[in-house]
This record gives sequence, structure tokens and C-alpha cells, in this order.
Amino acid sequence: MRSRPRLLLVGCGLMGKRHIGGLAEVRRSRLRDARLVGVVDKYAARAGEAAREVERLLGERPRIFNSVDEAVEGIEFEAADICTEPASHHTVAEPLLEGGIDCLIEKPLSMTVRGCRSIIEASMRGGTLLAVAENYRRDPVNRLAKWVIKNGELGSWMAAAQIVAGGGDAVLISPWRHKLTGGILIDLCCHYTDIYNYFFGTPETVSASSALLRKVRYVREMSGEALMKTPVEVEAEDYLDATYHYREGRVASLLVNLAATGEGLWRRLIYLENGSIEVPMERTGEPLKLSRPLDQDYLATMPHTAFLGQRMGEPYKVSPEDAEEIYDRETRVLFPELLNGYKMDFWEADRKLIALELIDFFRCIEDGDTPETGGWEGMLSVGMVAAALESSYTGRMVGLEDVLELRVEGYQARINRAMDLTSDI
Ligand SMILES: NC(=O)c1ccc[n+]([C@@H]2O[C@H](COP(=O)([O-])OP(=O)(O)OC[C@H]3O[C@@H](n4cnc5c(N)ncnc54)[C@H](O)[C@@H]3O)[C@@H](O)[C@H]2O)c1
Repeated sequence: MRSRPRLLLVGCGLMGKRHIGGLAEVRRSRLRDARLVGVVDKYAARAGEAAREVERLLGERPRIFNSVDEAVEGIEFEAADICTEPASHHTVAEPLLEGGIDCLIEKPLSMTVRGCRSIIEASMRGGTLLAVAENYRRDPVNRLAKWVIKNGELGSWMAAAQIVAGGGDAVLISPWRHKLTGGILIDLCCHYTDIYNYFFGTPETVSASSALLRKVRYVREMSGEALMKTPVEVEAEDYLDATYHYREGRVASLLVNLAATGEGLWRRLIYLENGSIEVPMERTGEPLKLSRPLDQDYLATMPHTAFLGQRMGEPYKVSPEDAEEIYDRETRVLFPELLNGYKMDFWEADRKLIALELIDFFRCIEDGDTPETGGWEGMLSVGMVAAALESSYTGRMVGLEDVLELRVEGYQARINRAMDLTSDI
């Protein structure tokens, strides 16, 4: 395989543009490289903007297309980076995968397990590489958390909690995320379930309840001095309370309330036999904190604090020797002098995480390797959220395998129909 794959970018919205920044980071890192030879968007203006950005950052103007078909006719390329809305991933990716083009697809791989399976099957038919762009687990803080869990210094893990509350009555990033085929819970929570898969492996069952709390949301914009509030009707749930059950009685909970107004909340905590790990939010650069209570801490608790923990966490000390073991070479090149935490703004960190997933994709194209997050991992993260929604829909505990094997898909049926995904797989 050639050493600088020719790449087509499909979808030049929010994430497509961020991937261009990621490609520029890849180039700067000198770890790998690609030539972005074409950009595609249904909206010509967006594709044009993206092409200008590519020229500015990468020094070469790509060809502009309004559809993938036009690009296939017009240029030669061996890889595609798909950043369209998730409901279109299968229709965009499958002909490419079947036609010999390796694809990196933004998470969620699809909006349903059936959709994910359909894409995986297309890559198998085409004998092509399928990678899923999952940036959260690549944040150094999640690499470090996984290492601490694995090295066993706090004993084995017993429970975990991911809590997110916020959003209010705003349209969250874009209206499609509130429509049936764009479901914000799948779109957002597949990141968190991927993190659970990365840390703990695959759960066996899930019990959950979901709700649609806000039936109308608003896009707020300033028009001169005047505030414009445009209502958007909501179809997809915005509240999920899920408990994932693992072997030996371990549990990981996910509580997401995207209709919360006022004070927000974001916590990721892992409870192990002898202490806890607090993982900060991705792209903040905040350090990982550990709490390892001593007997004296237990003795010092008061009746009203006994349930509130024994000791606050403190930043975990990472030596330069440990850092070499914890972080792969690519991460250490992109985050120089990395120990625990880093200092850079959101956009720089975002570009570097995207660069890491692109580097992994290019490495697999060039070396014939398996990506860290391929079709299976992409389907698993979607399947875990889908299983939670199926559990809420049926009012009972659901087995993850039943959802992955399409034995349970009552909740997803409407989404499948809307995405034209009704045939047998
Ligand atoms: N990893 C992250 O942190 C992160 C953040 C945001 C979005 N995403 C993911 O990126 C993907 C895109 O999200 P977004 O926020 O950029 O959406 P967006 O709506 O901003 O952009 C999508 C673009 O794709 C174009 N498009 C759709 N179908 C097309 C087709 N068939 N052919 C050509 N162009 C087409 C649209 O015109 C639009 O410009 C989603 O899968 C989303 O979940 C990931």
C-alpha cells in the first residue's frame, strides 16, 4: 500500500472541519501522512469552505464534490473519512467499502445495531478496512485510568458511575440530534459506553429507563441587538438512567439528563476495592485523581459524612518511566512531556485526539493492521446504548448479546424503518 493514502472527506459540517485540523496535526507530527484529494458535502458552500481550509492548513486544494458518486467518478482515492450525520453512515459508507475503499467513520457507527451490522458486512464483502473515529478513549487521561485499573494497585473494580446533567432547553449542537434518526442519547452516550468497554470490557445485561423531558428546544441566535429563539420539535429521548451488569456482580451506571437547566454536573468515578479513581472530562487536560483511604480516615468520619466517602482524591503521580509504559509513542509525540494532565485549550486537544485516530487509521491502511476501534468496537458502543433504550422500552432487563444478535430490537424498529434498514442481515 502507498505510504500517503489519498483521502476523501465526506461531510464538511462541524466534525468534518475538525478532522481537517486533525489532519494538519498528523502532518505536523511527522508520524504518518495522507493527501486529502477531495471533499464532499450536499451543501456546496460547506464543501467550498472545507476546501479553502484544507488549502490553508495542508497547502493543497482538494477537488470539491456534491456527492460521493461524483467523487468516485472524478478522482482516485483509496480511503474515505466519513463525517456525515450518523443516520447516513450506512448509505454513504457501504458502496465505498464494497468498492475497495478503506473507511474511517465517525461515531456512532450507525444509529442502530442493525445499521452497524450492515456496515460491518459491507466491509467484509469488500475486504476493506473499517475504523470508527472514537476520540474520547484516546485522551491521555483515559489511557492513564485504564493503566491504573489494570495495574491493580487499588484492587479490582467494583462499580463505576458516569453522570452528565446539563443542556437545558437548548438545541444541542444541531437539530438532527433531537430527531428520531439522530437520537442525542445514542450520539452522545456511545462515547461513554465505549469508555466502559475500554476500561471494563463487555457487560452482560442492562436495566434502564429513559424519558423525553423536553418536547421543544430552542436555537438561540443574535440578530443585531435582538435575540432570536427558534423552536425545534423534539422526537428523541433526552434522559437515560442505565445500569450495566458485569460478571461477578460488578456494575457501571450511566445517568444522563440533557434537559437539566441551571447547575450542570459531570463526573466519572470508578470504585475499586481499596479506593476510587476520578477521571476528568476529556480535552480539559485536568489530572486523574486517586483516593486511597486509610483506617484513620474511616475513624474520622462523622455520622452524617459516613456515606460521603472517606478521603478526597489527589492527582496521581506518574514518573517519566511510567509515562513511557502508559502512553504509546504517538500520544507522547502529540502531547510532549506528558505525565498526568496537559495544558492546552479544548481545540488543540481536540485536534490532537482526532490526529491520533487518523494516525491509527493510516497505520492500518499502510501496515495491514487492525484498528483500535473497528466495526466491532463501534457496534458495541452503540449496542450498549441501544440495549439501555430497549430495556426502557420493554420494562425489563435486557441481555447485550440479544441486542447485538438482533433478537431484541423493538425500540430500534422505528429508527430502522426511517433509515430504510428493514431487510434481513
Ligand atoms: N467525536 C466527537 O467528538 C464528535 C463531535 C461532533 C460530531 N461527531 C460525529 O460526527 C458526525 C457528524 O456530525 P456533525 O456534528 O459534524 O454534523 P453536521 O450536521 O455539522 O455535519 C454533517 C455534514 O454532512 C453533510 N452530509 C450529510 N449527508 C451527506 C451525504 N450523503 N453526502 C455528502 N454530505 C452529506 C451535511 O450536509 C453536513 O454538512 C456524526 O456522526 C457525529 O456524531 C463526533
